[in-house]
Amino acid sequence: MVLAKVSATEYVAVTQTCSHEGKKEIVYMNSQFYCTAHGAAFSKTGAGLNSNARSGIKVFQVSIAGNILTVTNN
Ligand code: FES
Repeated sequence: MVLAKVSATEYVAVTQTCSHEGKKEIVYMNSQFYCTAHGAAFSKTGAGLNSNARSGIKVFQVSIAGNILTVTNN
């Protein structure tokens, strides 16, 4: 999975596996999730932002309690 700090207080976790052709090449850059294989781009909510990303990407639930960050595979 890819866990990104998207703001001072917010984290977002998504699968590292791209929905385009299954490459495990998702990274977080320029405020979006991006696949380095063929350029699929996904929003912080997992929505596809271009044609290679049209199937979206799985987003995990992230919660923070004190110093403990929990990612749930829901
Ligand atoms: S496998 Fe990610 S864009 Fe093709």
